[in-house]
Amino acid sequence: MSAPQSGFHLAAALKDVPDGTMLSVQLETGERVCLYNFRGEIGAVSDTCPHQDFPMCDGTLLEDGTIECAWHGARFDRLTGDVRRHPATDPLPVYEVAVADGQVFVGPRRAS
Ligand code: FES
Repeated sequence: MSAPQSGFHLAAALKDVPDGTMLSVQLETGERVCLYNFRGEIGAVSDTCPHQDFPMCDGTLLEDGTIECAWHGARFDRLTGDVRRHPATDPLPVYEVAVADGQVFVGPRRAS
């Protein structure tokens, strides 16, 4: 099937992102994003931590809905990308997401 809107790319099957997990995927554009499932809400953030460029998907999706980087413990708001705990100072890019027919599509970066 085709993507729900232009600018969206097929990223994964919904079943591959169970509740409470994160999944690293590479888009057709070459960008790596980290899909997450927070209590049934599917979202996508950059898989590159703005602190020192390590993979965000190695981190943890916390109970409060923030995402913690595994490397130096920075935390980010999953919806806005805002820094919630240092050492990061720059926000984590957040992407538009659409789910259709059991597939997850990732669109453009949201304006920060
Ligand atoms: S690379 Fe993520 S906190 Fe340092």
